[in-house]
Amino acid sequence: MLTSNFPVTLTKTPRVKPTAEERGFGKYFSDHMFLMNYDKGQGWHDPRIVPYGPLTLEPSAMVLHYAQTVFEGLKAYRRADGHIQLFRPDANIQRMKDSCERMCIPAIDETLYLNALKELVTLDADWVPSEPETSLYIRPFVFATEAHVGVHAAHSYLFIIFTSPVGSYYPEGINPVRIMIESRDVRAVRGGTGYCKCGGNYAASLRAGEKASAAGFTQVLWLDGVHQKYIEEVGSMNVMFKIDGRIVTPELNGSVLPGVTRRSCLELLRDWGYEVEERLLSAQELTEAAASGRLEEAWGTGTAAVVSPIGEIFLDGKDYRINDFKIGPVTQRLYDHITGIQWGTIPDDKNWTVLVK
Ligand code: COI
Repeated sequence: MLTSNFPVTLTKTPRVKPTAEERGFGKYFSDHMFLMNYDKGQGWHDPRIVPYGPLTLEPSAMVLHYAQTVFEGLKAYRRADGHIQLFRPDANIQRMKDSCERMCIPAIDETLYLNALKELVTLDADWVPSEPETSLYIRPFVFATEAHVGVHAAHSYLFIIFTSPVGSYYPEGINPVRIMIESRDVRAVRGGTGYCKCGGNYAASLRAGEKASAAGFTQVLWLDGVHQKYIEEVGSMNVMFKIDGRIVTPELNGSVLPGVTRRSCLELLRDWGYEVEERLLSAQELTEAAASGRLEEAWGTGTAAVVSPIGEIFLDGKDYRINDFKIGPVTQRLYDHITGIQWGTIPDDKNWTVLVK
């Protein structure tokens, strides 16, 4: 029997779980979700777990017009011993706090947030898949519910957490992806919202994403919004390159998302003795390094994507192949180490994991 800090309404109609073949990424949702309301004067109130299902919103709900919303993404992993663990939930909770601050959304108590994650995952524990390379993706998000036409920070919000059993984010799995550098649209600018996980950043990325996809690329690699010169991120992941033996990654300049997997990889790479440079990296420097054979490896990092090799970069009509379109040794080592900690097959010396069950 579950003892909970929150009132729990159990579903009367359990959902059908997908088979391994059906699962994919983000298509199926577990039985329950966590909800909590905010109203001005009252603060956050009524935390509860209820069956997953549709919401009722007024057409004038402010999020639908002014996009006052932020989200997070983290995962729960089933270990071989059956225990379930989260990876660095404190980092996601902190990032959501930073995103909320930027978007004028009232902060959520961090202890309550962590308890909500643990209790929801515990309740729907049988939704955490156990096959290799699978996990339960957790999507916390908050949005303005106030019914009002007019631009101001809303006076009411809803915080929701739901979960989804997933396999790999890219159909390519751990095989290299093809990435297109976008030189027309920009995703974010410094002083804007690039560093926070708000829906608008993703909406702005769609046009270039559709164009890249139609041309056969997996994702867009964004340049900075001012000079349209410097590499920033992919949108679904941060990027890292091995150039002349050194690891180079775009610095966190305000328009790049501070990824939890990014931070974890940089920590491991420094522990392993690599020289890591967080700095401006122009597309020209990158393509010159690729053309002269000094770009040894490229990979993306993200909760959904984990560590994903980049096998080809496309810019201005030219293709640059990296490491013969094969996963490189540093990318493989990072993937093995990060996922080893996540799935509990190697010791978590860093204390990054939090047990839920
Ligand atoms: C994540 O990596 O968790 C994200 O939120 C990226 C999203 C495009 C799935």
